[in-house]
Amino acid sequence: MSLRARISTPEDHGSRGEDGHLVASYRAKLLEEIDLAEMSSLAAAERRARLERVLGHIISREGPVLSTVERSQLIRRVVDEALGLGILEPLLEDASITEIMVNGPDAIFVERGGRVEQLPLRFVSADQLMQTIERIVSTVNRRVDESNPMVDARLPSGERVNVIIPPLSLTGPTLTIRRFPRSFTLQELIGFGSLDERMVFLLAGLVQAKFNIIVSGATGTGKTTLLNALSGLIPAHERIITIEDSAELQLQQTHVVRLESRPPNVEGKGQVTIRDLVRNSLRMRPDRIVVGEVRGGESLDMLQAMSTGHDGSLATVHANSAEDALTRLQTLASMSDVEVPFVALHDQINSAVDVLVQLTRFADGARRITEIAVLDSHGGEPYRLVTVARFLAQPLTHDGRVYGTFEYFPLPRRTADRLYMAGQPVPQAFGVARTADQLATREAR
Ligand SMILES: Nc1ncnc2c1ncn2[C@@H]1O[C@H](COP(=O)(O)OP(=O)(O)OP(=O)(O)O)[C@@H](O)[C@H]1O
Ligand SMILES: [Mg+2]
Repeated sequence: MSLRARISTPEDHGSRGEDGHLVASYRAKLLEEIDLAEMSSLAAAERRARLERVLGHIISREGPVLSTVERSQLIRRVVDEALGLGILEPLLEDASITEIMVNGPDAIFVERGGRVEQLPLRFVSADQLMQTIERIVSTVNRRVDESNPMVDARLPSGERVNVIIPPLSLTGPTLTIRRFPRSFTLQELIGFGSLDERMVFLLAGLVQAKFNIIVSGATGTGKTTLLNALSGLIPAHERIITIEDSAELQLQQTHVVRLESRPPNVEGKGQVTIRDLVRNSLRMRPDRIVVGEVRGGESLDMLQAMSTGHDGSLATVHANSAEDALTRLQTLASMSDVEVPFVALHDQINSAVDVLVQLTRFADGARRITEIAVLDSHGGEPYRLVTVARFLAQPLTHDGRVYGTFEYFPLPRRTADRLYMAGQPVPQAFGVARTADQLATREAR
């Protein structure tokens, strides 16, 4: 078999094969002659050119006799491996790409500007894809194999990585890389049409008056981005503790303590959960607790903190509507090891949560606030949600864009009073309801 065939045979799954050994041995030789860390100051293209040159010398010196094509293929593959992520490398360098999705060796998709496209790229084999995946997860001291077929991790450079492999994935090794999200200011988000000036005015008042706010939305709707922007409204003198699974928040204030949970290590030890961190944060004299995403039993601790003096906390939760978010918080709180009757959790949520901000990702890729709702119920009352702002979408146009308008509704008296007492103006665009029937109210259990 020719070397070219050996280098690029897609059937070469299972064992690393002869070509794998060849690539591995040249990679080792290359790394002996060059210090990759020292090269990290070079731009990617320069780094590649330098490696190719050095490897060229090594092959001429001691390699087999090869045709020009074989030689350049060998060089490319060895350098790809040496550089780390092979064909993913240029994608990671491309700042316009926000997400990379690899569904087995033959299907690579990326998201740019909210739109997903397939690229005309493929891995040489499932085996090569697995090697790339192994290299990625090993940088964070994790392992992926049949007995541990799912990994969720963050790279040192900030990207979030999820891996799921056969037999769980029937599509082959599947890799999802989310670029470390750029943070956006509220003004930038207004520019994207995600919300408007009036909503920012209201939200600024709510944050400064220490309302507890839950940002809710499905995956990738922009929860973390909005949470980050809203956190920017917290006054500089307050002590903020942020708690996240993978630290994405980039708060600009100086008095910030950032906490990040830790998954178990390869031996299954050393795990520190969001819940552990929430509990610990209460002993750190916080003015504000910002929880990146509530997804487990920490819901209970967070709700308790919110209703016992840690006002002004912010958190996100994965849900498709404001009422969904309440149900989700309640369900998650019931999953904690402390047995709290479901009814009591309902009371807890009524006293803890003040405002819900719902995000939606539209067909054209735009992310918008689709509702701001005040939770106006107390004790054991059914959840009473009062819509104070919403996005009214128009039908999809032929240019594939979603247009619409933001609408505003009166604030409940209690909300307006609380803003007033905190020295925050009550935004005129919304007004204050004089009677209950002026409120855009709905109930949920
Ligand atoms: N308002 C927005 N307009 C345009 N792009 C946005 C907006 N908000 C977020 N994005 C982009 O969308 C992607 C996902 O954002 P983000 O991480 O904030 O979402 P998320 O809801 O927290 O996702 P997850 O559920 O995975 O935690 C990022 O690339 C981010 O830059
Ligand atoms: Mg997020």
